[in-house]
Amino acid sequence: MAETAEAVDRVKRVHSGVQGFDEILNGGIPTEDIILVTGTPGSGKTTLCMQMLDYGAKNGENGVYFTLEESAKDIIEQFKNFDPQIEDLIKSGMLKIVEITLTDYESFKGMITAEMEAAKAKRVVIDSVTYFQMFFADIMSIRKSIIEVSQLIKSHNCFGLLIGEIPYGENKLSAFGVEEFAVDGVVALYLMEKAGSFIRAIRVVKMRDTNHLTKFCPMEISNKGIVIYPNAEVFT
Ligand SMILES: Nc1ncnc2c1ncn2[C@@H]1O[C@H](COP(=O)(O)OP(=O)(O)OP(=O)(O)O)[C@@H](O)[C@H]1O
Ligand SMILES: [Mg+2]
Repeated sequence: MAETAEAVDRVKRVHSGVQGFDEILNGGIPTEDIILVTGTPGSGKTTLCMQMLDYGAKNGENGVYFTLEESAKDIIEQFKNFDPQIEDLIKSGMLKIVEITLTDYESFKGMITAEMEAAKAKRVVIDSVTYFQMFFADIMSIRKSIIEVSQLIKSHNCFGLLIGEIPYGENKLSAFGVEEFAVDGVVALYLMEKAGSFIRAIRVVKMRDTNHLTKFCPMEISNKGIVIYPNAEVFT
């Protein structure tokens, strides 16, 4: 007898807490996967990742957000508009935003390891892996380091979101063209021009271990954060 779709889906999944996102991913992100969240400037990368940490923190999964560019203060100020409880989550130790001052690669790995362990983290964000170019002169070393950092996150039984960048106006998924190969999944965010205005879209480019939609799905950023519409169309 044929098994039902529910019965055959034995993948353990992480719930994103972002409306519409789990639907695109057949129920959620496979546990302990490492996802590249890539996108054009201002496309919502920080908001999407913070929303997933925020949801995790409220549901017993501590999170750490490592920022290599924006200050922790700015991220908190921006996110307060979406969740006024953000500071309480930080005070309670469920959520931590860590500013990384770039030193060398070994110190960087030591720092993220110490913070993941201290926070007993289950969800980790690195914003952004584009900054790994500060550690290495060649692209193969950047690719290798992304794989190594991904393994480090997995070895701590965490689910990881690595933020990447799509250069504006280019038909690429990342700054170096290697980031997307070093991870389990790729989620791309876009600000697209349509009828003289900009619309937001999200697309799951790849996700190992699960079925997923591959189309561009419309999304919005409102006062509640990101909302995705998997049943609507961007191109009509
Ligand atoms: N309260 C809000 N309501 C609606 N849209 C908002 C709100 N706050 C921010 N935005 C939108 O979200 C965008 C910024 O989102 P976010 O910082 O997550 O993008 P990003 O991809 O991380 O940007 P960057 O490339 O600068 O790192 C803003 O440019 C603005 O268009
Ligand atoms: Mg950002």
